[in-house]
Amino acid sequence: TWTMVNIVEEQIESIRDQIGDRGRAICGLSGGVDSAVAAAIVQRAIGDRLTCVYVDHGLMRKDETEQVERDFVAATGVDLKVVDAEKRFLDALAGVTDPEEKRKIIGREFIRVFEAAEAEILGDALADDGGSKVAFLVQGTLYPDVVESGGGAGTSNIKSHHNVGGLPEDLEFELVEPLRTLFKDEVRLVGEQLGLPAEIVWRHPFPGPGLGIRIIGEVTRERLDILREADAIAREELTKAGLDRDIWQFPVVLLADVRSVGVQGDGRTYGHPIVLRPVTSEDAMTADWARLPYDVLERISTRITNEVREINRVTVDITSKPPGTIEWE
Ligand code: XMP
Repeated sequence: TWTMVNIVEEQIESIRDQIGDRGRAICGLSGGVDSAVAAAIVQRAIGDRLTCVYVDHGLMRKDETEQVERDFVAATGVDLKVVDAEKRFLDALAGVTDPEEKRKIIGREFIRVFEAAEAEILGDALADDGGSKVAFLVQGTLYPDVVESGGGAGTSNIKSHHNVGGLPEDLEFELVEPLRTLFKDEVRLVGEQLGLPAEIVWRHPFPGPGLGIRIIGEVTRERLDILREADAIAREELTKAGLDRDIWQFPVVLLADVRSVGVQGDGRTYGHPIVLRPVTSEDAMTADWARLPYDVLERISTRITNEVREINRVTVDITSKPPGTIEWE
């Protein structure tokens, strides 16, 4: 529509004004819609003076990394650096079962990996730029976040952002927030306007620690692969049923330390149960368990137990929030 075209053009223009020719920008991509749209706008504004960084922590759902690496890049022409850090994250998570401990480890490793990439990209590039020493950090902050944090108009410098080894000491960091006047639904429309892949534009919210907090028990590569398969089936069937936009989030949780007896194929099995956790919500503060149609649940259950050998039982979580949280950890 006209207004969307205008919003996009205005944002691109204002980012161009802000950055001018003062330096280079870096943007972390999470696979989610906010960072993708923010990056796409800045790319339109300054082209290859923007570099995006995607940290592959190995905790993403099936095909999500490819969506960013291949489809997002194809749609935007963005300069992307993918850091394959799976081994590093899994090593750090070995033996850890406590949810908050997992979060802490994933958060810590993420910052380290991101900062190393930042230093590599900006260190060289800004040295080449000879003197123009502003590093712009693109963030997908939305209007509700701005209001919540009491932030006023304009942008803030964040010199205190971090002490990254490998960067010039006097390097200034400045935030670029192309979405700070927008609500989530507007961000999706802008994303569509910019031609981003539907899987990214309409993606459900997904936690930073990824599948790491959807495996109850230790996180291992093998368990992640099992969960990825089951999760992909659940999402696929939800999409086929045309229910994506009615559901807020649809976590699938692997009870990795629980075993259940089943009969599959020729004999008894001793596998794992999985939990489907579809919820409806406005803002994740409260949520209700989603009344998915029985036939959809049936297809998901049949497919998962047929196609994922290690899973022999599918359950549905019918707890609202409160008292249950959306995630199990
Ligand atoms: P809960 O489980 O507390 O989740 O009802 C509320 C919303 O927050 C997401 N969530 C997280 N997002 N890092 C994130 O970026 C986290 O550690 C985290 N834990 C929960 C959750 O998916 C839901 O949207």
